[in-house]
Amino acid sequence: MEESENKRKLTNEVGAPVADNENAITAGPRGPVVMQDVWLLEKMAHFNREVIPERRMHAKGWGAYGNFTVTGDITKYTKAKVFKPGSQTEVFVRFSTVAGERGAADAERDIRGVACKFYTEEGNWDLVGNNTPTFFIRDVHNFSDLNRAVKRDPRTGMRSAQNNWDFWTLLPETFHQRTIVMSDRGIPATFRHMHFYGEHTFSFYNDKNERVWCKFHFHTQQGIKNLTDEEAAMICGKDRESHGRDLFEAIENKDFPRWTMYVQIMTEEQAKNHYENPFDITKIWRHKEFPLIEVGVLELNRNPENYFAEVEQSAFQPAHVVPGIGFSPDRFLQGRLFAYGDAQRYRLGVNHHLIPVNKAKCEVNDYHRDGAMRTDGNYGREVAYTPNSGDVWSAQPEVKEPPLDLEGAMYRFDPKDDPTDDNFRAGGDLYRIMTEDKKALLIENTARDIAPVTENVKYRHAVHCYLADTDYGERITKALGLDLEKVIELSKLDNSGLIKATT
Ligand code: HEM
Repeated sequence: MEESENKRKLTNEVGAPVADNENAITAGPRGPVVMQDVWLLEKMAHFNREVIPERRMHAKGWGAYGNFTVTGDITKYTKAKVFKPGSQTEVFVRFSTVAGERGAADAERDIRGVACKFYTEEGNWDLVGNNTPTFFIRDVHNFSDLNRAVKRDPRTGMRSAQNNWDFWTLLPETFHQRTIVMSDRGIPATFRHMHFYGEHTFSFYNDKNERVWCKFHFHTQQGIKNLTDEEAAMICGKDRESHGRDLFEAIENKDFPRWTMYVQIMTEEQAKNHYENPFDITKIWRHKEFPLIEVGVLELNRNPENYFAEVEQSAFQPAHVVPGIGFSPDRFLQGRLFAYGDAQRYRLGVNHHLIPVNKAKCEVNDYHRDGAMRTDGNYGREVAYTPNSGDVWSAQPEVKEPPLDLEGAMYRFDPKDDPTDDNFRAGGDLYRIMTEDKKALLIENTARDIAPVTENVKYRHAVHCYLADTDYGERITKALGLDLEKVIELSKLDNSGLIKATT
């Protein structure tokens, strides 16, 4: 049969023609279905297995392909070929909300995830970031708890402002991120109208094997646009897919969204003498001290053909770096190096790297064999062990990273014991540079969000605001109907004293 003729004809899962796709085979015109309707059994069994686990967080997302073009020159910092001046690399990017499940509405107050896969000639580089330059917490231990606090309550099955704010305010390092999420930027109008960031400190090393520390920033070329709570509520009532639809339609209409990539660079020497821990994800590097260096442009210009195959099955791992780009001592990043691959082996299976959207575009020779759903040739007859006398696929010592000196004892260090640790400076600075209308929105949004929460937790937040900026503290105190004298008294306590007095 001609291929085009076959295309429009229904077959079973192994290509044989299906005679009838609507009438079950029954014993008599009014009788029961018989086992012999094997096509019916196959259809039902396949359908029952079509749902795969959603991502533990960032479950709701949308993706698109595009490219990254290098316009600047950072080769003195990194030998990564993805940064070769003038070069272009294919990318796949998945945007997401964090707390909502796969069916949640897009236009919710939440941070947005932005995961970028660069299909470089030296392997895939995944930069898995968010639309905020900082994060709530900094120790991996807190990560599952953060998600339990922002996701559903075990008793009611409902989202709980009480759990959310209780957890946040018990950890003062969440303050800067709390301020961002409650600000006008807490609900971006679309994915196209927001910046995004790698957040962590990463490293670069050049062809002389000299290391610097770096941070990644992507600035939207569409301009920043946000929604008020009222606008977002209206949109969620009408369209739960507002962000996904906007991205899809913009690309279909050839209005390709673009972001300019910048990096900040800190030398190893600067890091040693920096006034706060440069590897603490809850801290930022100030632009005045570590200016943005322009690197290139990320453009999205092609929609996926199939949501499940390409977006749902996409898998990004902070562990996936390429020569010239490395990790840092950031303890939070270290935890992520394990978490993603582990989640994906569960969510998609051990061979998820063979799914086309995840597959590297360069040659892969990893000695991995077998495993569920190994659908390629499994390296055929090639030798399966190393070292081997055939010199097959030997390691490449020339890509070794420079050694990193470490200091100190092995111990459970609490960053709060570090005298340089200031959890309120960055949030206070952010408040001080806000225009009056932005400040007013921040106060209103916070008051609305925290309204259902018990008074003790409200006091904790008000005290943190007061410690960051007296005006911020006074306005929040007033908006929450609290007693300013009490806030001022509580602000004289240390963190454990404050927790004791408000628990
Ligand atoms: C120790 C801290 C963290 C842990 C353990 C963690 C863990 C995870 C896990 C298990 C997933 C689901 C992966 C999958 O099923 O494919 C995920 C998704 C994601 N995480 Fe994290 N995460 C952490 C911190 C962060 C931070 C700091 C950022 C942003 C800088 C971030 C951004 C994302 C994004 C964007 C996704 C969605 C990726 C996608 O679109 O497929 N996470 N995270």
